[in-house]
Amino acid sequence: MQQNNMKSKKIIIIGGAKAGGVASCIDHNRKHYNDYEYEVMGILNDFETGSINGYPILGKSRDCARYFDEDNIYFSYAIHVIGKNKLGDELFQELNIPEEKLATVIHKSAIILDGAILDPGVTVLALSYISSAHLKTGVYVSPQSTICHGSEVGPLSYISMGSIIGSVTKIGRSVSVGMGAKIIEKSVVGDFAVVAAGAVVNGYVPDCSIYGGIPAKFMRNIDI
Ligand SMILES: CC(C)(COP(=O)(O)OP(=O)(O)OC[C@H]1O[C@@H](n2cnc3c(N)ncnc32)[C@H](O)[C@@H]1OP(=O)(O)O)[C@@H](O)C(=O)NCCC(=O)NCCS
Repeated sequence: MQQNNMKSKKIIIIGGAKAGGVASCIDHNRKHYNDYEYEVMGILNDFETGSINGYPILGKSRDCARYFDEDNIYFSYAIHVIGKNKLGDELFQELNIPEEKLATVIHKSAIILDGAILDPGVTVLALSYISSAHLKTGVYVSPQSTICHGSEVGPLSYISMGSIIGSVTKIGRSVSVGMGAKIIEKSVVGDFAVVAAGAVVNGYVPDCSIYGGIPAKFMRNIDI
């Protein structure tokens, strides 16, 4: 085990409230799949000190630059607050983490088809299925989600557990898709929009709006 730890890439999770899925995914891959590619080094968090679920808090999010020149240290950006997507997006841009330092973390039980394109910093959690879709930088796919072929999911978008993103859909930048939501094929969801839990979207969701229900209808705009 010691030898495996020495080979592992060290990950710093930025955000990581409630320890999040990234840390659990890495630990689960190590423990149950003998996959030692990554090891959680700690968390950068702007609100807490000490530790979160046993992972040390190493500093604030803006401290990440201290580690940019260190070999073998990588980052996972885990700040996704539904309805406050723009703030998380702005912080990500301010941090300016080099692309090659963004870790792509995939649970071993996820299925990623050959035609899929995963940009740096993508997370795909347990039992998810990614067909030949394009997931852009920092996309986070929660457990048991499906992303069908020909779809594009914009940077930093957050797909909650049990969601289904149909074929040839276009999900914008920093979108939140609530748990169990379904986006019917060829739909378009605009930047910073929120799809409510359980919604069925068939068509178009404008930027910065919240749509919910079946079929999904406008609920309100997001104040940004
Ligand atoms: C859509 C959402 C963002 C709205 O949050 P909000 O603005 O705080 O809304 P509120 O809870 O104040 O509810 C406002 C109204 O919307 C309704 N509503 C809330 N969520 C809804 C949903 N998912 N579908 C349909 N209606 C919903 C409420 O019943 C309420 O209706 P009322 O005004 O007739 O009483 C939120 O409910 C949601 O679905 N978030 C996603 C949660 C999620 O999937 N988390 C993933 C964690 S892994």
